[in-house]
Amino acid sequence: MSNSIPEPAPAGPVLSIEGLSLFVRADDGQRLKIVENASFSIAPGQFFALVGESGSGKTMIARAVMRLVPDAVLEIDGAIRFGAHDLAHASERVLRPLRGCEITMIFQEPMSSLNPLMTVERQLMEAVDAHGRFKGVERRDRILELLRRVRFRDPELILKAFPHELSGGMRQRVMIAAALINEPKLLIADEPTTALDVTIQREVLDIIAELARDMGLAVLFISHDLSLVYENADEIAVLYGGVMMEQGPARKVIESPAHPYTAALLACVPHRRSKGSRQVGIEGAVPSVADWREGCRFVDRCGQARAACRVGAMPLFVKEDHSVRCLAPLNDMGERH
Ligand SMILES: Nc1ncnc2c1ncn2[C@@H]1O[C@H](COP(=O)(O)OP(=O)(O)OP(=O)(O)O)[C@@H](O)[C@H]1O
Ligand SMILES: [Mg+2]
Repeated sequence: MSNSIPEPAPAGPVLSIEGLSLFVRADDGQRLKIVENASFSIAPGQFFALVGESGSGKTMIARAVMRLVPDAVLEIDGAIRFGAHDLAHASERVLRPLRGCEITMIFQEPMSSLNPLMTVERQLMEAVDAHGRFKGVERRDRILELLRRVRFRDPELILKAFPHELSGGMRQRVMIAAALINEPKLLIADEPTTALDVTIQREVLDIIAELARDMGLAVLFISHDLSLVYENADEIAVLYGGVMMEQGPARKVIESPAHPYTAALLACVPHRRSKGSRQVGIEGAVPSVADWREGCRFVDRCGQARAACRVGAMPLFVKEDHSVRCLAPLNDMGERH
């Protein structure tokens, strides 16, 4: 008999989204499909970037995972697997203990989540107590450790501060600490750095990427800016008009983009632009949901578009762990599905 130590079973994904479609009820009663058949999964320790221009459906996907949109507004098709649960169809009784504990979320404007009248210490204590995982002196130690992890050199001083005494970047770091207090498995960050200046954005991103690596945290990081995430992300998914246009390991998506839309986004990244090129954005605008037609949603802005791109659903090409939804991918993308 072999006495070798058995290999641990590979950890499954923390979050697995399968064929997710989202429908909203517009004010005039119309039922609009805002996300169509999206699938992706995030492993422990993985930094997954969901990128797309304004209105592409990023926030709706995040809110669907947390089920933070009233059922009357948002209808969900498909599955959102988290552990043994399907969050797409779970009851409030199942969802409530998960929110803020196993799944946490940070937003663009930290001030909206912080109470201006309470010190950082009281707010963080309340976050710990909400789920009762840490008790007594352990609570304070836990808070100080997390403040150090989000790179505060003097956490005791930060504890005494009120939110208005902190800079925007410091407030967002406090929010990250608060989001991690109960040892979540999944952190959803919806454009958490958009309101910050560029160097601070990078620092916040580095902190989140480090936390993912060191704590085995799965991160769903949402941004409209591919240039911001491409150095930190392990995986990138590109969303356009509610459709996942391309996804795969960050290196493949960046080095050999298969969708003309991804290539166009990359052409806007300043230090990747070829000399003399002045492109700062893609010409044209994302069509609004009510104007979506059959065929590819990017067709009117695509340099490679042909007549067939306006007909039916676009095929999915999959090559190993890289996939693209396009009639004519920019490089050899293997099998058509
Ligand atoms: N209640 C609603 N009724 C109708 N349409 C809605 C409703 N809520 C959202 N939408 C539409 O859903 C689409 C996706 O919105 P979402 O907020 O997810 O975009 P986003 O990618 O997060 O954009 P941004 O970068 O601006 O935050 C948008 O086209 C928006 O107009
Ligand atoms: Mg959004």
